[in-house]
Amino acid sequence: MTWIVTGGAGYIGSHVVRALQRSGRRVAVVDDLSTGRESRVPPDVPFLRADLSEAPIADWLREVGATGVVHVAGRKSPTESMVDPLAYWRHNVTATTRVLEGMRAAGVARIVFSSSCSVYGTPTAAADEGSPLAPESPYGHSKVAAERAIEQCGEAHGFGWVSLRYFNVAGSADPTLGDLGVHNLVPLALQAVAAGRAPVIHGDDYPTPDGTCLRDYVHVEDLAEAHVAAVRALEEAHPGRVFNVGTGRPHSVREVLDVVADVTGSGLVPVVGPRRAGDPAAVHAVVDRIRDELGWRPSRDLRDMVASAWAATV
Ligand SMILES: NC(=O)c1ccc[n+]([C@@H]2O[C@H](COP(=O)([O-])OP(=O)(O)OC[C@H]3O[C@@H](n4cnc5c(N)ncnc54)[C@H](O)[C@@H]3O)[C@@H](O)[C@H]2O)c1
Repeated sequence: MTWIVTGGAGYIGSHVVRALQRSGRRVAVVDDLSTGRESRVPPDVPFLRADLSEAPIADWLREVGATGVVHVAGRKSPTESMVDPLAYWRHNVTATTRVLEGMRAAGVARIVFSSSCSVYGTPTAAADEGSPLAPESPYGHSKVAAERAIEQCGEAHGFGWVSLRYFNVAGSADPTLGDLGVHNLVPLALQAVAAGRAPVIHGDDYPTPDGTCLRDYVHVEDLAEAHVAAVRALEEAHPGRVFNVGTGRPHSVREVLDVVADVTGSGLVPVVGPRRAGDPAAVHAVVDRIRDELGWRPSRDLRDMVASAWAATV
């Protein structure tokens, strides 16, 4: 009875692996190490290095005794997806259909999927799970397509599934597990400060109270615990259900950078640059469903996220 974590050598996946282990479950990891690091996979966890968009994994699922899959592997930048859309279709859509094929062949019928608030595009108000899907980037479209493939396997093949639509993930459980990506605000700002450069605000002319983008930040440890709640729900029943995972409290880019300055003691004044393609003005979550149905609620705040991410940067 082993839960597979795809992308378990990455930022979020490595936290999910540890949360599942803490919950008493056995875990195995598959990852192509394109952005992940093998050193993040605990030594007692079986590890397969494979590109999921190419490699059939049915035999390996049987070998490790898989009971379900937490499918975290994928690319994560709306901006990068605007210039390299096919990489997003390959790593986020083709890889997902390959995982589903492998599950079918191996008789594994439970999946938790890493989706994204990018499926909502620019919502006119706080997004709940019934809000219209209006992705604005190839990344967002790739997450909608993968969600659909999973839902259809639920209908056609009786898969139990949970898609978790993450909002903006930040923080770290441990200095060795920080976000190595170069796409998200908190790691970008902290990397700049560590190098003695001023953090950049990408656009301050958005229709928001301080002109900078509003986002809903969730601590990666809280997020990892949401996966354990989803796994538990799938072990008990076969829900086919989408859940937002955020805090429901938006913060502007300027607010985040104020916390960065406070935590790091940096006197660097942020500089304002041009908007980035694919960045909606304001995105935040309604999180009632996951609280009411899975009993999950976040317990860490923005300062916890920035402080733990800073410990992983320096
Ligand atoms: N970080 C965020 O704020 C955020 C928000 C919403 C959704 N997500 C989603 O969460 C997931 C994980 O994001 P992350 O922040 O941990 O990124 P990450 O880059 O740290 O982790 C992704 C992992 O997947 C692996 N991978 C990628 N393509 C693969 C493939 N074809 N085959 C096998 N392994 C592959 C990488 O090597 C890496 O270890 C992604 O699907 C992303 O779209 C992230």
